[in-house]
Formats: sequence, C-alpha cells, structure tokens
Amino acid sequence: MTTEYFVVRGQVEKGDQRGRELGFPTANIALRDQDGQVGDGVWAGWAERADGTRIAAAVSVGRRPTYYGADGYRLVEAHLLDFSGDLYGEVLTVWLGHHLREQEAYPSSEALIVALNKDIADARKWAAENPADGLPDAGAAEAGVVRRVPRD
Ligand SMILES: Cc1cc2nc3c(=O)[nH]c(=O)nc-3n(C[C@H](O)[C@H](O)[C@H](O)COP(=O)(O)O)c2cc1C
Repeated sequence: MTTEYFVVRGQVEKGDQRGRELGFPTANIALRDQDGQVGDGVWAGWAERADGTRIAAAVSVGRRPTYYGADGYRLVEAHLLDFSGDLYGEVLTVWLGHHLREQEAYPSSEALIVALNKDIADARKWAAENPADGLPDAGAAEAGVVRRVPRD
C-alpha cells in the first residue's frame, strides 16, 4: 500500500497539442518550483477535478526529453485514464502515488507510444490496488508547488 504521496495543484494549461496527436491527451500543469521536492519521472496517481471527481492517471513529471532535449522546462502532465473532455483552465489536484520509471529520451514517437501504453496499464493496476478513497488530504496546496504528504 502506498504510504506517501506527492501532491501538486494547478490550473490546466494548453500544451503543444502533441498529446492528442499521439493518442494520449494530457492535462498540463506548470511547476512554479522548477527544482521542487519531486524528481523527474513517470508516476501512477490520481487526479481530482474542480467538481471533486477523482480519476486515475498516468503522470509525467519532467522536460519531455524526447522532444525538447534537456532544455525544456519541467511540468506535470497527467493523462487521465478513460477520460475524454476539456480540462483547460480547470484547477486540477494531482496525487503521485507510485514511481513507475524514469523519463527517457525515446528515438521516435512510436517508441514513446509503446512506453505510454505500458505506463497506462501499470497505472491502472496501481489505482485498482490504491483506490481514491484512501488518498490523504491535499490541504491548502499552493499552485504549481509539489508537496510531500504522508498517508494518514
Ligand atoms: C505517462 C506519461 C509518460 C511520459 N513519459 C515521457 C518520457 O519518458 N519521455 C518524454 O520525452 N516524454 C514523456 N511524456 C511526455 C510526452 O512527451 C508529452 O505528453 C507529449 O509530448 C505531449 O505533450 P503536450 O501535452 O505538450 O502536447 C510522458 C507523458 C505521459 C502522460
């Protein structure tokens, strides 16, 4: 069982729309704190919408090295499982529960898609074992700042 989470809250911004082309749309949240408490990586977690709905997610924290090398800015990108809808402008809270892998610079979009499919399967499995009603309180999270929150 996951005993510790990282939590980040922020307004969903427009990405460069590549996620839709890849078939994996993401809700992008800018990180105000570019160093922050959490390192780059790919996580299984949960996202909570403004209306309180919680949706399992595969979440990327990092600089998208496949497309931007090491120069990109760090951001949180959440792919919400089995969700289609417009989240732009909405405030989303994201719990990172389980580290799946490191960020990789893939040789092609096709190779990234293969990895994303596995991430989603892994995130689905983790979410089934760690349901949303067990999430710790996110508290008063400051926008774009990742915090470590123990599970009570
Ligand atoms: C679960 C997940 C894992 C990801 N892993 C990587 C990765 O290892 N390397 C990488 O360059 N980008 C990774 N990404 C980011 C994608 O490159 C990014 O979502 C895509 O380029 C779309 O960007 P956009 O939302 O700005 O259009 C990941 C995204 C998600 C949702």
